[in-house]
Amino acid sequence: QPVRLSEYRVANHSVTTVALDVALDPTATRVNARIDVVPHPQGVAGAPLVFDGDDLVLVSLSVDGVALPPEGFEATPERLTIFNPPARAFALEIETRINPEANTQLMGLYRSSGTFCTQCEAEGFRRITYFPDRPDVLAVYTTRIEADRALAPVLLGNGNLVETGDLEDNRHFAVWHDPHPKPSYLFALVGGDLAHVEDHFTTRSGREVVLRIYVEHGKEGRCAYAMDALKRSMRWDEEVFGCEYDLDIFMIVAVGDFNMGAMENKGLNIFNDKYVLALPDTATDQDFAQIEAIIAHEYFHNWTGNRITCRDWFQLCLKEGLTVFRDQEFTSDMRSRAVKRIADVRLLKSAQFSEDAGPLAHPVRPEIYKEINNFYTPTVYEKGAEVIRVLKVLIGAEAFKTGLDLYLKRHDGDAATVEDFIACFAEASGRDLTQFFLWYRQSGTPDVSVETHHDAVEGTFTLDIRQSLRPTPGQSMKEPMVIPLAIGLLGEDGVDRPLLTDDGQQVAGVVALNAERHRFTFSGHPTRPVLSINRGFSAPIRLKTDLRREDLAFLARHDSDAYNRWQAMQTLATQYLTDASEAVRSGGASPAPDILLEAMRAALAGSEQDPAFAAQVLTLPSEADIAREIGTNVDPSAIFAARRALRTALAQSLGDSLSGLIERLAPTSSYSPDAISAGRRALANVALDLLAAAGDAERLAAVARRFHAADNMTDRLAALAVLVQHQGSDREDALATFEERFRTDPLILDKWLALQAGIPEAGTLDRVRALMSRPGFHATNPNRLRSLVGSFASLNPTQFNRIDGQGYDFLAEVVIGLDTRNPQVAARLLGAFKSWRALEPARRAKAEAALKRVSETDGLSPDVRDIVDRSLA
Ligand code: ARG
Ligand code: ZN
Repeated sequence: QPVRLSEYRVANHSVTTVALDVALDPTATRVNARIDVVPHPQGVAGAPLVFDGDDLVLVSLSVDGVALPPEGFEATPERLTIFNPPARAFALEIETRINPEANTQLMGLYRSSGTFCTQCEAEGFRRITYFPDRPDVLAVYTTRIEADRALAPVLLGNGNLVETGDLEDNRHFAVWHDPHPKPSYLFALVGGDLAHVEDHFTTRSGREVVLRIYVEHGKEGRCAYAMDALKRSMRWDEEVFGCEYDLDIFMIVAVGDFNMGAMENKGLNIFNDKYVLALPDTATDQDFAQIEAIIAHEYFHNWTGNRITCRDWFQLCLKEGLTVFRDQEFTSDMRSRAVKRIADVRLLKSAQFSEDAGPLAHPVRPEIYKEINNFYTPTVYEKGAEVIRVLKVLIGAEAFKTGLDLYLKRHDGDAATVEDFIACFAEASGRDLTQFFLWYRQSGTPDVSVETHHDAVEGTFTLDIRQSLRPTPGQSMKEPMVIPLAIGLLGEDGVDRPLLTDDGQQVAGVVALNAERHRFTFSGHPTRPVLSINRGFSAPIRLKTDLRREDLAFLARHDSDAYNRWQAMQTLATQYLTDASEAVRSGGASPAPDILLEAMRAALAGSEQDPAFAAQVLTLPSEADIAREIGTNVDPSAIFAARRALRTALAQSLGDSLSGLIERLAPTSSYSPDAISAGRRALANVALDLLAAAGDAERLAAVARRFHAADNMTDRLAALAVLVQHQGSDREDALATFEERFRTDPLILDKWLALQAGIPEAGTLDRVRALMSRPGFHATNPNRLRSLVGSFASLNPTQFNRIDGQGYDFLAEVVIGLDTRNPQVAARLLGAFKSWRALEPARRAKAEAALKRVSETDGLSPDVRDIVDRSLA
């Protein structure tokens, strides 16, 4: 049953053109597919034709216009087999009947608040018609859609609109033609009563492109930011990667029910409405930034994903890692590069390092899967992007650019592999990238430890570096990786010294490990320099150094690498918090060291020079960050207590500076979502949160006033987030006010749900259960579930990990209940158990029992079965 990379074979039958004729109906949609089939020259001659299906009902079937006799084929819901297909090109006509209304999986053709829409990646097209539903079968599609005009006045498909017309009985139709051969996962159609906003873009070679964003009526006013982000993405991709758009129209459709963030269907992107709709009063700065990034991401897929697609699903990172890399670069150019890097590393560590350290670890390019939907992971996406950064550092920006240009040229129109991609960089750089390829093959986060030695007499400074990679599921033995480490050596004045090897040669600021141990000696250091290493997070590793607290505080102040200034402060805080958590566990306490308080005070003092950066510096490591650092026998309550004590100490020691800062950051003009203004709000809100940590009534009252006075969602939600962390009437008043104000807007109430799910108090589980059974809560909508249940399980460590195990039981119960309706989202929620083995024994036992209960449930979907089996393995 598992699919293996090593077993890849070309399809025996490929497809050149597809003509789909879809008659939309809520419960009985008719799909006629005319598929031009050719035996693949490299396939098995004379093999039966086998097409994929999923939940399909066949109505009729013919070959070259002649109905096939029953003994000539077999059609099950999962498969269509034609025993003796012609040994030449032929036309297959397939009629199927599907029920979009009953499609609760949200894969294939389904309805979201009355709108017909599709999601075909990875294997949803087979829920529409029988097809070789694999990414290496590329065909030219024409889609005719017809529907009742009242039910679906808008009919959209991939490519360019070629015909529309009226039919009898109030019906109408539209025909769309996409000239670019594509795999079935990029197919899309939409039918419904939607409003749209329109704009235009002229490509650099003069193509006039119509841009449209389709939304529910009444939401047109919330699309401007997304439209602007789209135009900036299109321009940027031309300028930076030389990628131009290739159709006459580009459409985005926002839907309320969507399993993931968005989907890059050719010319017809379909989005979770959360990542399209934004106004100052409805969206936070973070929402604006996410919208910008996801609009860009999906648009960038037009080249990296669509024009160059994947040979098979093992190559998923080929399009996703690269496209994440591209959207990260876009954001870095639009906003602050350092702040973006910090945000990306935070996400990488919290989502991917934790995955890599647990039972769900897998390589960036997996070699085996049971359910591909479970591989749309932080490892494939975020580590996939990170590995491309490693490559860029290794071969240098210039060779990297040459290699990428070569890839875009050479493989345009191909279904490619990671090997194809890397070969372009090997060629461009003249380097052997065999060892580099281990980043794709070996799972787990490399551990790198650095010991330094200063010899004052010789004036040398030596780094002894070791790397190791722990065993991960399916990989007990590991080979050493190639790990580029950007470094600097700071003199007493805080300035970078030249990097001279022991024979006096000056070297560039990167050392590369390629063996288990390495020694690097630098000369010209009569006094001990301070090492700044893995600058810019040049490699996605877990780093241990012998830097002392004083060194970290020094780096936090002086490092010329902004990322490492942030990292130094994080390391300083993390080291203290891991010790303090251990102290709490053994019933003791460990007061915050002055050096940490002073480093924070220093960061605060210079914070107005770069508020967005300072906001990151002043944000303490999360409970999950600390848990990851501790690694085993994790006690979430102890971590929470240690972290809370530090926040209180900071509030007390920095109180006046924090209030002063908040006053000085008060806005002087009306809200604008730009990065500079957002940075000022971020800093003010971080300061507000810290200040309130002392918990005194007066300060909380001030936060409540800020909440009521806020004229934008960022400040309103930030204040609410502070209030919900503190028991009392301010909290309940603010929650009620917010609910009343946004009662009719589920997307906004999601924020309200998430905040409540995150309250670190024993009553939260009951609160979450109560919220779930409110009449307005649509327990089948992925956004509602993620906001309430997902936030509870992944953003509330003390309550999800309740010592009585009820948090685990709750999640298990939700997953089991949801699995029959939406396995993909159920499997994703279950992923919250990914670190269960790192827990202390009592909680570990409770988590295991909950997982076992899921495992023993009859009729689990392949999605949940796969996650639960791997989690327990
Ligand atoms: N390709 C989409 C994106 O990156 C993700 C779609 C995944 N959908 C799924 N059902 N697995 O942006
Ligand atoms: Zn993507």
